[in-house]
Amino acid sequence: MASALPSSALPSSALPSVLVLNGPNLGRLGVREPEIYGHASMADLEVAAAKWGEDLGLAIEVRQTDNESEIVGWLHEAVDAGAHVVLNPAAFTHYSYALRDAAAQVTSAGLLLVEVHLSNPATRESFRHYSVVAGIATGTVAGFGFDSYRLALSAIAERLRA
Ligand code: DQA
Repeated sequence: MASALPSSALPSSALPSVLVLNGPNLGRLGVREPEIYGHASMADLEVAAAKWGEDLGLAIEVRQTDNESEIVGWLHEAVDAGAHVVLNPAAFTHYSYALRDAAAQVTSAGLLLVEVHLSNPATRESFRHYSVVAGIATGTVAGFGFDSYRLALSAIAERLRA
């Protein structure tokens, strides 16, 4: 689920911009394996993120795609726009070198990129134990449901204030 804003238009704001990018199957939150991912939807995350943005002084836009090239393009867009990124790469976490290389451009541009996961992949199947993104991320938050996103945004706000 993409936000109401056109995907090419980052919010123009005096506040620091953060793109909250979500990979495949996360548009199914609420109906997908609720025992693992909970009952709240991507639309609920958008509402929560808007509130966190107000509290933290960040201009936040939430996007979701099942398409690898689209999320790679959004990471390029973040670099060009000077936006920080909260990234839940979903299954791409575990094998997408294209995503990893795009995410590396964000941090090498001096922007912050926090990898997040709703679940704690380290406690799950072995194929989830390795993240190709972790090595280039500013940091990782996993295992706290929607709170993983709130903690990541809070860490970005703190780092920008330091
Ligand atoms: C996930 C964990 C991944 O292993 C999985 O493929 C997802 C969601 C999480 O948020 O817990 O789709 O990134």
